[in-house]
Amino acid sequence: MAGHIDEKKLVIGALVIIAVSSLALVIMPYVQLKHIEAPAALKPYTDVQAKGRQVYMSLGCVYCHSQQPRDPKFAPADEKRGWGRASTAADYAYDQVHLLGTMRTGPDLLNIGARQPSQDWHLGHLYQPRAYMPGSIMPAFPFLFIERKGAAKPGDVVVNLPPDYKKPGITIVATTDAVNLVEYLKSLDRTYPIKKTIAESLTTDKPAAAAK
Ligand code: HEC
Repeated sequence: MAGHIDEKKLVIGALVIIAVSSLALVIMPYVQLKHIEAPAALKPYTDVQAKGRQVYMSLGCVYCHSQQPRDPKFAPADEKRGWGRASTAADYAYDQVHLLGTMRTGPDLLNIGARQPSQDWHLGHLYQPRAYMPGSIMPAFPFLFIERKGAAKPGDVVVNLPPDYKKPGITIVATTDAVNLVEYLKSLDRTYPIKKTIAESLTTDKPAAAAK
């Protein structure tokens, strides 16, 4: 009959689509990736770096920064921009709640620690991005710093801004959140050599036990 809908076919069709997509998008990737080990060169986050990662999440850095340089076949510009080789699953072994990101309003940060290892630069850039990158559209995060009249006190982590941005008589001191965040940024370094295929990544990096 024209216009008649066969409910049974409809339900079976829907179930088949759900089953096939679960298999392809959840089960197969899980089976492929579950045994992948962290590369020996990748260190777990220290407490300070892990706290910095929380600050990164809470301030929404991920809305503008990805952490996934792509394969030159898909995105030839990524490597040319100096963002590093294409990342692999093993690079994220310690990332509980990944921060791959989808937006690239700013540069990819997976290797920012290798590209920019200076604490001074990172602190100053968070305090005022325009002091380092004229015309930068990255927001400043002044609430991560304390502006104090007079000289620094012992133990203060002082922000050394470029001369044009220094305020006379004011010392800018980084809060613990700022220092932790910068420790996290400096830890982002996946420039070690990688295993290219999933099969290769399943082999362990640990030295084999000496033969008896
Ligand atoms: C509104 C978008 C936006 C947000 C939110 C944002 N950024 Fe940025 N970021 C940018 C842009 C654009 C640049 C490039 C210009 C510059 O260096 O300031 C940049 C550059 C950077 C750089 C230097 C990258 C390089 O390759 O030199 C670092 C590090 C950085 N951002 C860290 C952060 C952190 C940490 C946060 C969160 C606290 C954050 N950004 C939030 C847009 C953003």
